[in-house]
Amino acid sequence: MRRIFPIIVLSLAFPLGCGSAPPPPEAPEAPESTVSDMEPEPPEAVEPAETPEEPPAPEKWSDMNMEQKKAHMMKVVMPTMGKVFKDFNEKKYGEFSCVTCHGPEAKDGKFDMPSPALPKLPAKGDFAALSKKHPKVMEFMGKQVVPEMAKALDMEPYNVDTQTGFGCYGCHQTK
Ligand code: HEC
Ligand code: HEC
Repeated sequence: MRRIFPIIVLSLAFPLGCGSAPPPPEAPEAPESTVSDMEPEPPEAVEPAETPEEPPAPEKWSDMNMEQKKAHMMKVVMPTMGKVFKDFNEKKYGEFSCVTCHGPEAKDGKFDMPSPALPKLPAKGDFAALSKKHPKVMEFMGKQVVPEMAKALDMEPYNVDTQTGFGCYGCHQTK
């Protein structure tokens, strides 16, 4: 306790002169721990979620800002869609990345969708010729890529009757 005394004297000897309070005296040191302090501590209380300045990302894709969308792409779209594409063609999509869907501009931080880098599709779902030429890819795109991607974005897959929802043109531009 004796240590506090010279500090108080010092702060009185050098008044700040601008009306601000002198710094509080140092808190007395905690007593050294004794054997009784070594008892096992009770389980720690669960800490509240950290960093209040960064609120958790909204659940819905449409409510996310750009940074949250990137994180969602990384965390949700990459693993789910990566698996879908690799299961379909490991050789072709072994190096699945943002670039697979967004094109090389993704490396410069450009993520425009529909992507200018993907093959352009005929407008209005006029896919008869394509389906004849690439039956497997077309089936894969329609039965796996569209529904899985829609799910990852909290959207409904494209519905021909209502003509709403996430479909081919969510990724591909039209010719
Ligand atoms: C399987 C295809 C696919 C992959 C892989 C993919 N994305 Fe996307 N991304 C999309 C689609 C589709 C959209 C548009 C969603 C929509 O309609 O809002 C999108 C949208 C975005 C957007 C929002 C763009 C905007 O203007 O609103 C960002 C940012 C983004 N992606 C970043 C990434 C990053 C970063 C990666 C890699 C970690 C990635 N994406 C991988 C399909 C993909
Ligand atoms: C989530 C984004 C996404 C959606 C939705 C999507 N595609 Fe694709 N599509 C791709 C990607 C990625 C490729 C591969 C491009 C590559 O290999 O470089 C591709 C390739 C293709 C190809 C070319 C295949 C080849 O081997 O050259 C066709 C044709 C195609 N898609 C048709 C469709 C059709 C039709 C639909 C709707 C039923 C559709 N796609 C929906 C992302 C998408």
